[in-house]
Amino acid sequence: KQAFNIAIDGPAGAGKSTIAKMVAKKLNFIYVDTGAMYRAIALYLLRDGVDTANEAAVSEAVKNADITIRYQDGAQQVILNGEDVSGLIRTEEVGNTASATSVYPAVRAHLLELQRSLAASQNVIMDGRDIGTCILPDAQAKIYLTASSRVRALRRYKELTEKGTMCNLEEIEQDIIERDHRDMTREIAPLKQAEDAVLLDSSEMTIDQVVQAIIDTAKAHG
Ligand code: C5P
Repeated sequence: KQAFNIAIDGPAGAGKSTIAKMVAKKLNFIYVDTGAMYRAIALYLLRDGVDTANEAAVSEAVKNADITIRYQDGAQQVILNGEDVSGLIRTEEVGNTASATSVYPAVRAHLLELQRSLAASQNVIMDGRDIGTCILPDAQAKIYLTASSRVRALRRYKELTEKGTMCNLEEIEQDIIERDHRDMTREIAPLKQAEDAVLLDSSEMTIDQVVQAIIDTAKAHG
């Protein structure tokens, strides 16, 4: 039996991971967070002191970053050279470095096989930027999940404030806008809606409504 694949793409902070996790649970699918893989590479580069503006240096260094994933109690863990780095990759610094280095073909090529192989053998809901367009062009269901930059900044602001992290809403929104711009205008695998993807704008939707819309889309294509 062929694996059923759901691809979810969209800009930073649209709620992809929260929503994909809930859909995975309801459908009994495996959730694959590809952003975590780019973040793990970014962490490797930061630790190694690689100049992330130097494509040749990054392309060389990335060969030494072995990324795999594993699941514990249904949660994805990302393993960098044998170390579980899941708890270390959720910082703004790592996110921005991931965005800056995901533009390089060598970085993207390094993760392509891992991502495709995960989807080949099992039912997955995979989130990222280029899943519907590049990684899984034959996914049975594709979603492009977005929200206004203001709404996304507010959600991030709330999340950080709840954790007790000092932050500034304007700065967060500016960061989001910059990151979107870079992800959408890069040469390789830019963020864009696949032609056959369903567009969901979550600005005025509840989490449950978005989850239900995705499940409905998957059922319509199953
Ligand atoms: O989704 P997340 O914020 O964890 O992703 C971090 C960065 O990794 C993104 O800003 C994007 O540049 C990159 N990324 C990507 N392709 C993916 C997933 C993430 O280029 N499939």
